[in-house]
Parts: sequence; C-alpha cells; structure tokens
Amino acid sequence: MTEKKARISIDREIEVSVVDERIYSSFIEHLGRAVYEGIYQKGLPVSDEDGLREDTIRLVREIGVPLVRYPGGNFVSGFNWEDSVGPAELRPHRIDPAWGVIETNEFGLHEFMNWTKKAGTKPMYAINLGTRGIEAARAIVEYCNVKGGSYYSDLRRKNGAEDPFDIRLWCLGNEMDGPWQMGHKTATEYGRLAAEAGRIMKMVDPSIECVACGSSGSGMPTFPSWEAEVLMQSYDTTDYLSLHTYYGNRDNNTPDFLASNIDMDQFIRSVVAVCDYVKAVKRTDKQINLSFDEWNVWYHSEEADKKLEKWVQHPHQLEDIYNFEDALLVGSMLITLLRHADRVKIACLAQLVNVIAPIMTSDTGAWRQTIFYPYMHASTMGRGVVLNTAVKVDTYESRHGDAPYIDAVVIKDEENQTLTVFAVNKDLEHPYEVTMDVRQFEGYTVKEHILMTHEDVKAVNTEQDPGRVAPVTVHTDTIDAGTLTMHLPAKSWNVIQLS
Ligand code: AHR
Repeated sequence: MTEKKARISIDREIEVSVVDERIYSSFIEHLGRAVYEGIYQKGLPVSDEDGLREDTIRLVREIGVPLVRYPGGNFVSGFNWEDSVGPAELRPHRIDPAWGVIETNEFGLHEFMNWTKKAGTKPMYAINLGTRGIEAARAIVEYCNVKGGSYYSDLRRKNGAEDPFDIRLWCLGNEMDGPWQMGHKTATEYGRLAAEAGRIMKMVDPSIECVACGSSGSGMPTFPSWEAEVLMQSYDTTDYLSLHTYYGNRDNNTPDFLASNIDMDQFIRSVVAVCDYVKAVKRTDKQINLSFDEWNVWYHSEEADKKLEKWVQHPHQLEDIYNFEDALLVGSMLITLLRHADRVKIACLAQLVNVIAPIMTSDTGAWRQTIFYPYMHASTMGRGVVLNTAVKVDTYESRHGDAPYIDAVVIKDEENQTLTVFAVNKDLEHPYEVTMDVRQFEGYTVKEHILMTHEDVKAVNTEQDPGRVAPVTVHTDTIDAGTLTMHLPAKSWNVIQLS
C-alpha cells in the first residue's frame, strides 16, 4: 500500500504545559476481582506474607502508576470506611448494592496503604457522599492525616499505623449526577454537600486537595449545567472537577470507534469553558483544573455481566478482554489528555487489575492486556513539557465529526535532553510518512521507535498467548538536514524518541 504523507509542526519555545505525572494515574475499586484475586490473594505462591500478589505488583511497577484512586467508584457511595479498619476477622460482611455482591472487608484501608507502598504508588481516596455526609468525611481525614492525640488518629495508631497515611488527594463522592448512584443528588444538593464536606475536611487538614464530581459522561442530560451549578456552590473548597468517559465499539465500526477521542477532546474543552465561566462569575483568580479520573474502553463484558448471580463474593465482573483496536484508542485518548496538559492535571485509567484493566490475573499468573503498552509508554516516557503540536494530515468522516488519520503529541524533556513523539495512525490501510522539522533540536538523533501494530484489529493477549499483541523496536526513521522522517505503519501505535 502506498505511503501517505503528513506533517507535524512544533516550536521548542511554544509549550502547552509541564506534564503533571498524576495524568498517568489509575483506579482500583472494590469491584469484581480488582482487589480480591487482583492485588490480594492469600495462599498463592506469588503472594507475599501479607497476601499481596507480587506478580501484580511487578506489573504495576512496570506500567508506572503514580497515583491510584480507591476504593470506588459506584461501590463507595454505600461504603462505611469504618468497616475497613481494625482486626480483619471482626470486620462486617456487607452487601454492596452498587454491584450486587458481598464485600467482606477483609482487605481494607491499612492493607491498601501497605499495597501502595509496595507497588510504588500513592493513594487518591474517594469518600462516600451518597449514603453518608460530612461527619464521616471529617472522621476519615482525621483517621488518615492527623498525627495522634485524637479519637480517630489514635484509633489508626491502635490499628497498627503509627504514622499518618498523609493522603493528599480526596474525591468528594463518585458520579453523583448519575441516577444509578446510591444517594444520587441534584446539582444543587450535591454542590452544597461537596462544599461543606471539602470545607470540614480542609479544616482537619488544610494541605489536602479535593476533587468535586463533574458529570459521569458528556452524554448526561444534566451536562454541563451540572458542572456550573456544582462549582457555583463549591468553588472555594474545590481544587479539581472530575470527568469520566468510556467508549465501546458496539456496532463494530472501527474507524468510528477510533475517532472516539474527538468526543473526549470536546468534553475536556467544554468542562474547561464551564470552569472558566464560573471563575469569571466569581471574580476570582483561583483556577479549577480537571481530574479525568475514569477513562477507558468498556463494553466487551456487558453481556456476561448481565448474567451474574447476585450476592456472591468477587465474581468475574467487568472483565473486558482488550483487543488491538482498543489499544489504539487508548493511545489516542492518552494523546488527547496530554494535549490538554495545561488543564488536565490528574487522569485515571479505569481500572488497573482484572476489572476493565491493563493487567489480568488468574491463580497461575498475571499478564499484560493490549492496552497495557500505550499506557506504559506514556507513563514511563511521557515526562517533561508538552509542546503545542500541529498535525497536518487527511481526515475521514466519523460519527464524532472529521477525524484526523494521525493523532500525535510531542513532549520535550530539557533535563534529560529527549524529544518524544506519541503517534497513532488510524488509517487501517495506509502507512504514513510523517515529517517534522527538528532544526531547533540540533544534535538530537533517533534513539528508538517503539511500534505496536497487528494485522488483526481484534487480536487479544491471553494467559496462554500473552505476547500476541506487543510492541517491537524498529529502525525506520531518519533525520536529514534537520527534518525527522518517521514511518508509521497502517493501524499503529508509535513512540519515537530522539535524544
Ligand atoms: O469503573 C467502573 C464504574 O464506572 C465505576 O464504579 C463508576 O464510577 C463508573 O460508572
């Protein structure tokens, strides 16, 4: 197939923003086998003395996750945090109405904090503003962040943690705009509650940051008036507003599916506009930034989940098996997030293990799904400053509007002297020759080109065949007279790094 041509333009001085590393965060909910059998499973040869799976920890460290949102999700809106502390054998078994299962609370707050240390990550803790209110919000910040000498801080010490957990980032509930949410509220009701919860939490620990719930999707009927009203009520105590989105290829139209990040891009632009509108109304200098704290592909497991028996413990739930085209979209979504790095400061791939996740486990091992790779490349190589990246390329019609065949973003890291291009070629037939003027980066040479492509967009990785879809290194790119020429095969995820 003939190679088509595209051009990327950057300027070393024209920056979008420094990448906040929290843009590469993830999410673990008490849901399905995310916690139980995912990160915690007593008695396995791969589990340590605390029952934490070392094979999962290895992959979490490999993928690079600075922050993990926990413990939900829909789950959190009916959760009593007190159930998850103290001697494990005394903790109550509860029904979780959100997911129709039994939660044993065997794995709780202290176990999670222990896991974050071993996995080299940090917590982002969500409180229940569905069935609970500001008293529980106050108490958990005291439990986690006050040194000692008070009821809840001393309870933490009695439960084995002498030092405070020092949790910096708190989600004020989850998807409170959704009628499926336990304790679902109107924007005014939630905005008031978020304001008061955030206020009392910051009275306990003024150094924390709070994320208020935005819409659970841009398709919600209350979007974007929800955002405006929530911020009108809670502007002073809110630091970030959340966004959530999931996409699926339900009608098996790959070009349309791969264009879904156009919708994500528009969603971000709209939420930024609302934040800045409220900023103007409030006549304040304070800027609200975005926490895109749930994003991914999610649809493969929908039918299986409808058949699940109720009130069992940690069933196989939301276990999407990701194919190659899902990895391409995840790559494009990462590019979209990075292109908005000036306002998106936190983003969580939802989720991390077993439940709509890049990492899967069984009793005999753990393996990488297709989406593991773009996330890992972005997280480990996408540090530095995002440059304003213009891409001149043909477009195709999609249900999300005109879609460029190539998505790309360029990141410079002056300290380590690297320039990294992330690029997805969505053209299913044609390879692209992409050129970029790099005269401002004199002396830089092509260090590597990591490529992920597959002839079958539906190809998946399994425990038996874990390497079917995996990246390779190619040596196809050149720099000649200050022009970098990159070759992107049809349907491919690419990382080109100069140094
Ligand atoms: O990530 C799965 C679920 O998706 C979360 O529990 C909820 O917040 C969202 O609807």
